[in-house]
Amino acid sequence: MSKRSSFRQALIGGVAAGVTAAYVVRQRQYAAAATRFRFPAGKALITGASTGIGACYAERLASLGYDVVLVARREAMLATLATTIQQTYGVKADYIAADLSTAAGMDTVVQRIKTGQDISFLVNNAGFSTTIPFSELDASVVDDMAQLHVLATAKLTRAALPYMIAQHAGTVVNVSSVMGYMAEAYHSNYCATKAYLNSLSGALAKEVGALGVTVQALCPGLTETDFHTSAHYDAWDKAAYPAFMWQTTDQVVTYSLQHIREGRSGVCITGWLNTLLVQVVRHHTVGRPLMRLFETVMRWVTAQTAS
Ligand SMILES: NC(=O)c1ccc[n+]([C@@H]2O[C@H](COP(=O)([O-])OP(=O)(O)OC[C@H]3O[C@@H](n4cnc5c(N)ncnc54)[C@H](OP(=O)(O)O)[C@@H]3O)[C@@H](O)[C@H]2O)c1
Repeated sequence: MSKRSSFRQALIGGVAAGVTAAYVVRQRQYAAAATRFRFPAGKALITGASTGIGACYAERLASLGYDVVLVARREAMLATLATTIQQTYGVKADYIAADLSTAAGMDTVVQRIKTGQDISFLVNNAGFSTTIPFSELDASVVDDMAQLHVLATAKLTRAALPYMIAQHAGTVVNVSSVMGYMAEAYHSNYCATKAYLNSLSGALAKEVGALGVTVQALCPGLTETDFHTSAHYDAWDKAAYPAFMWQTTDQVVTYSLQHIREGRSGVCITGWLNTLLVQVVRHHTVGRPLMRLFETVMRWVTAQTAS
C-alpha cells in the first residue's frame, strides 16, 4: 500500500471516529439536559386545539401543569376539551373561538396574548392543506392558507415574545411539516407556507435563544388526524401510503417535547424516516433519483398490501 493511500485511509478513519465521538458526546449532553429539565408552570396557548395534534398538545401540556387557552373555530369541541382537561388534570382551561384566517380572528387572539401577559408556551398549530392544482385553487383558499400559516403565526409569536423575553423563559412551537422542505405538485401553497415557518423559526431560535426562549419548528410527516378527511382531500388516497409511514399525534408531540427537554431549538423532524426523507430531498443530485426509487418501492409495497 502506498504512503498516500495509507494516509488517506488514516484520515478517513480519523474523521469517522471524530464524527462518531462527537455524536455520542452530543447525545449524552442531550440526555443529561433532559434529566435536569423541568417544564416551568405557566400558561400555554394552543391554536388548532379542537382536534388532532393541537388537542394532543393541549392535553400533554396540561398534564405537565400548564393552564391552557385553546383556540380554533369549532366552539363546542373546544368547550368539551376544556372541561375534560380541567377535570382530568386539575388545571385551568379557557378557550377562544376564532377564525385565524381572518383579521378579526387574529386580532382577538393577539389582544388576548398582549393584555394577559401570561403566555409562556405558544403552539402555532392551526393549519390545513389542499390537493388540487394551484391554477384551480379558489383565490380565497390561497388567501386563507397564507393568513393562517404565515400571518397568524408571525403575529401571535410577535405578540408573545416580549413577555417571554422579560421572564427569560418561554417556548414557541410552530407546527410546520416535512413538506416545508419539499416542492410537491398539488401541495404548492402548503409547501411554501410551511417553508416560511421553518425559516422563521430557525432564525428566531438564534435571535431569542440566548434570552431564555426556545423556538421550534416541528416538522411531522404523515400523522393520523382529521387533516386528510377534509373536503380539500377528496382526491387523495390515504391507502397509497403504507402503515409504517404514519405516526400518532402522541408520537409527534413526544418528539417535540423531548427536543425541548434536551435543550434543542430550531427544526425538530419527527423520527428517522422523516429525517431521511428530508435529507434526501434537500440534496438535488442524489435526491431526485432516490425519491424516484422510494416512490417505486412505495408503489410496490402498496400493491403487495392490497393483494
Ligand atoms: N396530519 C398530518 O399528516 C400533518 C403532517 C404534517 C404537519 N401537519 C400540521 O399539523 C397541524 C395540525 O394539523 P392536524 O393534523 O392536527 O389536523 P386537524 O386534525 O385537521 O387539525 C387542524 C386544526 O386546525 C384548526 N383550524 C383550521 N383552520 C383554522 C382557522 N382558520 N382558524 C382557527 N383554527 C383553524 C382546526 O380547528 P377548527 O376546524 O375547529 O377551526 C383544527 O383544530 C397543521 O398545521 C398541519 O399542517 C399535519
